[in-house]
Amino acid sequence: MSKVQVQLGERSYDITIAENLLERAGDVLAPYARDGRMILVSDEKVWAAQGDRLRAQGIEFIPLLVPAGEASKSWDQLTLLLDRLLALGVERSDHIVAFGGGMVGDLAGFAASLLKRGCGFVQIPTTLLAQVDSSVGGKTAINVSAGKNLIGTFHQPSAVLIDPATLDTLPPREVRAGYAEVVKYGLIGDPEFFSWCETNAPGLLVGDPAARLHAIETSVRAKAAIVAEDERETRGRRALLNLGHTFGHAFEAEAGFSDTLLHGEAVALGMALAFRFSARRGLCPVEDSERVAAHLVSVGLPTEPRIGTPASLVAHMAHDKKASAGRVPFILARGIGKAFVDQSVELSEVEAFLGVLMG
Ligand code: GLY
Repeated sequence: MSKVQVQLGERSYDITIAENLLERAGDVLAPYARDGRMILVSDEKVWAAQGDRLRAQGIEFIPLLVPAGEASKSWDQLTLLLDRLLALGVERSDHIVAFGGGMVGDLAGFAASLLKRGCGFVQIPTTLLAQVDSSVGGKTAINVSAGKNLIGTFHQPSAVLIDPATLDTLPPREVRAGYAEVVKYGLIGDPEFFSWCETNAPGLLVGDPAARLHAIETSVRAKAAIVAEDERETRGRRALLNLGHTFGHAFEAEAGFSDTLLHGEAVALGMALAFRFSARRGLCPVEDSERVAAHLVSVGLPTEPRIGTPASLVAHMAHDKKASAGRVPFILARGIGKAFVDQSVELSEVEAFLGVLMG
């Protein structure tokens, strides 16, 4: 069992990572269960596939289920969930336990941040994407018609429990999509980890326990360090985690945030484009950009823009949370492991770049 701490003063918390950790969740959660009740929010699919493993842990979880799928990150589901939590008489000392993927974590975390001005919260992520990214760092949100994750809060969990064995019941496409966020940590600041990914991705993607444990631990350590330095994304450090996301969100929006393009797939496409754009601007060696794309292609992730038009994609980017006066901060790279925030990118330049790629 390994532990990574997110160091945030009195709000510091441990991320516990171990194969089959769910079978020991009772021990890890005992200190929190002493404070109050554990109210578990999950989706119907995760609860059906993994619920029995938690039920056998000697902790009384009160389960509240929401429909599976990104559509549940909505005002309607948030209101329903808050009403159900209020009906249970939730107190600040109770913990809401998010047991599922990014949707469950974001929705349950948002509810936990609002109830009684903030009640206890624990994350037990069950997808690779949630394990290496969204369960760590306290971002919570729902989607609204104006865009994805536009309404939300920062609300740090008290603990994160990661059991890579939950990935055994995840469809391979979702594991691949989550893997894009693993590769991201190599591309942002750890070229050796990117090389490790190139060698070990095949094993990791078919569930090799040692490979996935190393990938998750390395990713979580990188994320914990970034969050400790820049919790609220105000110092330029946490923004690096958005590598691939400005391009990616535009494609997701074009696909109507549907299963046509999963979030991690959009991030893979976005990272490939961010490197190509960096190479086109003369910032990054072309060989690095080609190496990034080759690796993503080798694991079956998309790297070519195939939906939308340059104008429609750039229109989505203009609605980015961070857009101002025709400019959006882009995460670009000077090479593999050398990402940085570039404030100088004009959207017209991005449109011309996409025009060349999309014919
Ligand atoms: N998913 C990006 C972040 O947590 O900041």
